[in-house]
Amino acid sequence: MNLLHRKLESDYRDAMGQLLVLYTQVDRLIMEACAERIASAPDEAAKLGLAKQVGDESRHVNIQREWMEKFGTSETPVISEQQEKAILDHFRQLDWLDFLADMYLCVEALGSDAVEQVVPLADPGTKESLRIPLQDELDHIAFGVNRLKQELSHMAPAEREAFLDRIPERIRMLNQSFHGMGLNVKVLFEAVGADYGELCKSVLQRKDEVLKEVSEPLAA
Ligand SMILES: [Fe+2]
Ligand SMILES: [Fe+2]
Repeated sequence: MNLLHRKLESDYRDAMGQLLVLYTQVDRLIMEACAERIASAPDEAAKLGLAKQVGDESRHVNIQREWMEKFGTSETPVISEQQEKAILDHFRQLDWLDFLADMYLCVEALGSDAVEQVVPLADPGTKESLRIPLQDELDHIAFGVNRLKQELSHMAPAEREAFLDRIPERIRMLNQSFHGMGLNVKVLFEAVGADYGELCKSVLQRKDEVLKEVSEPLAA
């Protein structure tokens, strides 16, 4: 192995390690935010959906932690305790509809899309560690999207339109706060071999798809 190769290999491991820590921190935060929501969720189906997700996210945290130990990832948190608190505070002050939009359209759907872009570039162990979590995320996105459609179907048309029109701005704000956290995600993604421009394009496309899906009427 020549020097350049060794340097690329060690950059890959450092960056993938940080992305794994970040993904695990986000999953843990989602777990807490969803657990806190159970008590105030509007009905039994919502409570059960959230509770299932809490169990799934806890499983993801365990899978990722086990893998990070084998992979030899530095355990230093990527987002600080204060930032974690700010994220939880954000979710706490949302009403049910905004919670659904921010949690499922933004964090779950767009976050998973970014993780999915990394999978083909990942080493076999990392790939395997993401398999179950990414499968479950599809369930979470489906829960959020269906639930949002259900809530929207009970709203007056003008109110519904106004809510849908506000979603892109909500996503933009959340994305801005995420980028304002001082993480250099571009450098991390590039060090694991991703084309950052393509990755952003894919996430934007996913955003359009998910918005389209939510705005379509509920299937009978
Ligand atoms: Fe997860
Ligand atoms: Fe999830």
